Amino acid sequence: MNISKTMQDAINEQIKNEFYSAYLYLAMAAHFETANLPGFAKWMRVQTGEEKDHAMRFFEYVIDRGGKVELKAIDQPPLTWSSPREAFEKVLEHEQKVTSLINNLYAQAAKENDYASQGMLQWFLNEQIEEEKSAALILEQIKMIEARGTALYVLDHQLSKRDED
Ligand SMILES: [Fe+2]
Ligand SMILES: [Fe+2]
Repeated sequence: MNISKTMQDAINEQIKNEFYSAYLYLAMAAHFETANLPGFAKWMRVQTGEEKDHAMRFFEYVIDRGGKVELKAIDQPPLTWSSPREAFEKVLEHEQKVTSLINNLYAQAAKENDYASQGMLQWFLNEQIEEEKSAALILEQIKMIEARGTALYVLDHQLSKRDED
């Protein structure tokens, strides 16, 4: 059974949102490179890759369900953040917003008795739990150490160890 037009349009919107996430984190990567925090930049680069994968997961799903992918214009992300703390506050806020968007998609799929979309979206619901958790954890760690420049350096080094996946 093909995907409904409503669900198709909603997922196309989410493809754009995932690419915006990739863009936002890539902007943060560029910002941290400029701010001499290559570990933070590395973390953001890996995050960018994950968001591109999310976009492509929705992209493939629309095609698999006989829908039509429509790529929308991506907004320009901000250029700078006043501190790592502010950047991670924005990351957490952004991921919370994405979680609510995924929840809305799930609600639409449930309303249509579209079980395949619900199954596909379950992966994203689980992923958002991880996304919020990791952003919140780093933000809390920044709060613990932000008064101490050497500790920030250590955190930067730790973030540089993030694996590609
Ligand atoms: Fe995502
Ligand atoms: Fe995300």
